[in-house]
Amino acid sequence: MATRLPYPLTLTGDGLVLRDWRPDDLDDLVALLDEPDIARWTPMPSPFDQEAGLAYLRRAHQGRISGQRIQLAVTEDGERPLGEVLLFGLDAGLKEAELGYLVGAQHRRRGLASGSLSLLSTYARSTLKLGRLLLRIDPANAASIAVARRCGYRLTGEPPILQVGPYGPSSLDTWELPGDRTETRLERLKNVAARRYGRRT
Ligand SMILES: CC(C)(COP(=O)(O)OP(=O)(O)OC[C@H]1O[C@@H](n2cnc3c(N)ncnc32)[C@H](O)[C@@H]1OP(=O)(O)O)[C@@H](O)C(=O)NCCC(=O)NCCS
Repeated sequence: MATRLPYPLTLTGDGLVLRDWRPDDLDDLVALLDEPDIARWTPMPSPFDQEAGLAYLRRAHQGRISGQRIQLAVTEDGERPLGEVLLFGLDAGLKEAELGYLVGAQHRRRGLASGSLSLLSTYARSTLKLGRLLLRIDPANAASIAVARRCGYRLTGEPPILQVGPYGPSSLDTWELPGDRTETRLERLKNVAARRYGRRT
């Protein structure tokens, strides 16, 4: 498995084009990220102004050219950004990484987050060969939990990650996309059952 994530990258499918951020996205980025739900549930600075936007695009570009993260604007046509989807915290040894997502307030409830997360998860599994794909979600973030569920992620039994933010102390649950290992175990169980009842699956 590669230890540097690919750059540049465009992922398409389900009416979505996920593409790298560009310098001329600054105004759209600020309009998307300067928003109460994003301030509440993500580590974005608030207010998110032009200066924050410039710093964000610079950091995104750095993370992309160094191969440390995948950070893509969510678009429908490769042009106007409507949100963002990320893969970061890559551990090449453990073959695991964390994913994240956000969608601008005017573009929500149209399947953009779940479509983008599905596309990036499939790419991470099939092309990057990552076995463990993780999400960290505050249990009070109903929208994010719905996205995770819709994309097939399941709550793990890992202890909550405690953090202190501007809204006081909170905790993040870990969600995981069941993978090949789970399927193999399931198939094994099916085969055990089949042997017991004289039927092959
Ligand atoms: C979470 C977020 C990305 C969802 O984006 P979205 O594009 O509206 O999500 P989708 O349209 O793909 O919705 C997927 C599912 O979530 C449900 N959902 C979306 N918003 C919801 C809400 N506020 N409350 C309950 N369910 C919600 C949808 O109904 C859909 O459910 P379904 O599978 O039963 O149809 C968006 O609300 C957001 O950007 N929030 C702020 C940032 C954030 O919390 N990021 C995640 C940090 S862990």
